[in-house]
Amino acid sequence: MRQGYAAVLCVMAVLGLEAAAPGECELSRLLQDKLRYEMRLQYMKHCQEASPPFQKHYFPIDYTVQVQYEEVLRPSNITRLRNGTVSEVALRYLWFHISSQAVLRIREVLPEKHPSWRYTQELARLFDALGEEFSQYQQSDVEEVVAELVKLVHSGGAQSRRKPVRPKALLDNCLKVMRMLYGAPCRWEST
Ligand SMILES: *[C@@H]1O[C@H](CO)[C@@H](O)[C@H](O)[C@H]1NC(C)=O
Ligand SMILES: *[C@@H]1O[C@H](CO)[C@@H](O)[C@H](O)[C@H]1NC(C)=O
Repeated sequence: MRQGYAAVLCVMAVLGLEAAAPGECELSRLLQDKLRYEMRLQYMKHCQEASPPFQKHYFPIDYTVQVQYEEVLRPSNITRLRNGTVSEVALRYLWFHISSQAVLRIREVLPEKHPSWRYTQELARLFDALGEEFSQYQQSDVEEVVAELVKLVHSGGAQSRRKPVRPKALLDNCLKVMRMLYGAPCRWEST
């Protein structure tokens, strides 16, 4: 009986590193809810009448924000990194850093009166809470390639190449990659 219990503990310890913490599952579920299609559409939508500095509503048609290439994380990036045997923990760490940065990028261009301000503030709060979950990890706990990417993303990247991306596309990627990374460990029914 005792031995069985010890064996279970041992297996859990081994699996522990790859398993998402309960707090992460809870917060990513809340994020998933906030990022559902209707909300992304409503708050990231473009509007003919809007023009900088957004006197009217929503984003001007074809509005984009400038981000570093490395701030774009798509499912294809994850597939490639997984194939390069990057651990799931490191992938979630990367997704967290890039996604919270994406929300910051969007908030940087929004005046407080903008209809999307409050929405992005709620997203930022959820990412702050998620940051607490990730604060236990050091850059040395993740693979070099991921540590380098995270460093680059936070460096401000004065000399790195940038590209224009629509705000909604940043959130679309955030959600798609989140589903890829949290679906199995958090036992979300496949959608
Ligand atoms: C994802 O892949 C694109 C190229 O498809 C690349 O420009 C970008 O830097 C990659 N992102 C990360 C975080 O590696
Ligand atoms: C995975 O990596 C191997 C070699 O490292 C490569 O041949 C293969 O095409 C890769 N697969 C994908 C899906 O990237």
